[in-house]
Amino acid sequence: MQLFDVYPLQNITIDHARGAWVWDDQDRKYLDMYGGHAVISIGHTHPHYLDRLQTQLEKIGFYSNSVHLPIQQELADKLGKLSGKSDYQLFLCNSGAEANENALKLASFHTGRKKVIAFQKAFHGRTSLAVAATDNPKIVAPVNQTGNILFLPYNDEAALQACFQSQGHEIAAVIIEGIQGVGGIHVATPSFLQQIRQLCDQYQAVYIADSIQCGYGRSGQFFSHDWAGVQADIYTTAKGMGNGFPVAGVWIAPDFKPWHGMLGTTFGGNPLACAAALAVAEVMMQENLMENASVQGEYLMAQLRALPGVTAVRGRGLMIGIELAPEYAELRKQLLFDKGVFTGEAKPNVIRLLPSLALTRAEADHFLDAFRSLL
Ligand SMILES: Cc1ncc(COP(=O)(O)O)c(C=O)c1O
Repeated sequence: MQLFDVYPLQNITIDHARGAWVWDDQDRKYLDMYGGHAVISIGHTHPHYLDRLQTQLEKIGFYSNSVHLPIQQELADKLGKLSGKSDYQLFLCNSGAEANENALKLASFHTGRKKVIAFQKAFHGRTSLAVAATDNPKIVAPVNQTGNILFLPYNDEAALQACFQSQGHEIAAVIIEGIQGVGGIHVATPSFLQQIRQLCDQYQAVYIADSIQCGYGRSGQFFSHDWAGVQADIYTTAKGMGNGFPVAGVWIAPDFKPWHGMLGTTFGGNPLACAAALAVAEVMMQENLMENASVQGEYLMAQLRALPGVTAVRGRGLMIGIELAPEYAELRKQLLFDKGVFTGEAKPNVIRLLPSLALTRAEADHFLDAFRSLL
């Protein structure tokens, strides 16, 4: 049987990894400034992560949500502490799209409404409602098309105000990435997020903070929305949550009332996934990784802004977009094949940095040296 060929692949076979570094099957070493797409939050193969997972696996790997699984509560308590959201409720699932799907469904249950405001260049996943709220017609199948999603320009306060004024009482939710990832690293202004909070309060709509890429400490605060001093009604998290183990969460404000059967999943919240997420949270606390993300991110951005050929640097913490002049279209490939540095991209000309939150100054300098030498 062949693999269903949907991924354009780099011609590299990764064999093993440690910290911010990966090695291919020829034993060539690469600096991972991509983190497997913002997934590697505490570094590859962290010893505490390995230990936690192995210990859990020897005890029990899986049981379903039909019995008490105390490790779920242990995780919820730890995440409450780490994020300052102890009063929220946690629904555990398996992927970013599934978290957003559940968040949107919950908002509709809660309000009894159907319409959702999403933003231009948004990416929320590939399942039915998540992809309908994603601004990329190429990946929306006819069966996913719905007239219930309204796309507005990002950071446009007048457009948001006008939309609420004309149909605010039909709006179930506003879903927004605090920093757009796939769309090219665009940061929401604090005043835009504050306006979303105010309009959602005024019209009893649900504010959903898609924090799948920009959350979980990556911006230097637990949620990138924290920079605006606002609380969303629902946060969704995935990527960095399990450092590679598939685990996701829907963080739900206290006024949402659950009923049995309202949401559900077979694999979500299984003991092994919880052990992975607990290991990540523990390392984040022990090693002050949010602060490190902030410090290393500021350093990288300041250095990058001073370079010729760089037309813009956007982001917060270790979620950085480097916009390049058109003549540097090949630079990302050169970084990988000539300098041994993995990065991400956003078309047409943005290099995305999404490294582990444990990136050291020496590793940041290694990247900067490689980048400067190519410019
Ligand atoms: C902001 C955002 N939301 C949702 C998703 C979907 O997550 P997943 O691929 O785990 O379904 C992604 C993935 O890139 C994302 O960046």
